[in-house]
Amino acid sequence: MADLPSVLFPDGKGVPALGLGTWTMGEGRAPAAQEAAALALGLDLGMTLVDTAEMYGDGGAEEVVARAISGRRDRVFVVSKLYPHNAGRKAAIAACERSLRRLSTDRLDLYLLHWRGSIPLAETLAAFERLRAEGKILRWGVSNFDTADMRELFEIPEGRHCATNQVLYHLAERGIEWELLPWMRERRMPVMAYSPLGQGTLLGKQKLAAIASRVGATPAQVALRWLLRSPDVIAIPESVDPAHLRANRAAVSLRLGAQALREIDAAFPPPKGPTSLAII
Ligand SMILES: NC(=O)c1ccc[n+]([C@@H]2O[C@H](COP(=O)([O-])OP(=O)(O)OC[C@H]3O[C@@H](n4cnc5c(N)ncnc54)[C@H](OP(=O)(O)O)[C@@H]3O)[C@@H](O)[C@H]2O)c1
Repeated sequence: MADLPSVLFPDGKGVPALGLGTWTMGEGRAPAAQEAAALALGLDLGMTLVDTAEMYGDGGAEEVVARAISGRRDRVFVVSKLYPHNAGRKAAIAACERSLRRLSTDRLDLYLLHWRGSIPLAETLAAFERLRAEGKILRWGVSNFDTADMRELFEIPEGRHCATNQVLYHLAERGIEWELLPWMRERRMPVMAYSPLGQGTLLGKQKLAAIASRVGATPAQVALRWLLRSPDVIAIPESVDPAHLRANRAAVSLRLGAQALREIDAAFPPPKGPTSLAII
């Protein structure tokens, strides 16, 4: 199997371009042991970045992650997010400490503001910088920020420490290619693409199925490989199905030639003008 490409954060830290999502975990949809086993399989396959949030399963997803990373914490890049209403100077510290407890760890590799709320960004950044100084988080970033939000963030001196922006990005949602992605690229900041399979909705699309059958892959593999064509995109698909996890990992070996890329652009066109950021 081809090696997983690495994506670099601005501080030089490399992570696998394919990680693991956890949005629907820890809510009892599947037994927690099964969810933890799925994550553990993903880690065994080299997808050693796990994306979670205090919101997912009301903390339950972080507890599932704790089970999966037990005994190998040092080999996993753990990402969590805080609610905007917890993003105040003191509340953010407390929220992070709760996440650390649920995750049974002493640090997060990356801590994200889940989306923008009403608390001034400067307050959140002060909390992030304090958490970083104390070693409770190694780096921080944002999520669901459009270009104007990123510009505002960068007007705050500490804003330049932002490691990433996690946004909705998949074949059928390419709006960020107009402005946000180039803006981040200029600053050498990778994008974390959430819902890279459109929460599964992408997979039923006839045009994608036709392209996938021509290149001898599944629709999910084409959707993931297409995202990984860029050296600065990290995709974090979620799956509790071992066969899907193996297929997602194998997508890295898929070759998408110029012809396939042209067919993809025809079926799922890039934006033709400014497009506001789509958010789930
Ligand atoms: N920052 C934010 O605001 C935000 C918002 C949304 C999501 N996220 C993050 O992004 C992660 C991924 O997004 P998502 O969970 O919304 O959606 P997604 O990863 O696009 O899609 C997940 C769905 O695809 C299915 N699937 C996965 N691999 C497959 C394969 N190879 N073949 C067929 N079906 C497959 C899964 O079912 P099976 O389990 O059956 O495989 C699941 O139903 C989340 O878990 C979360 O960590 C962040």
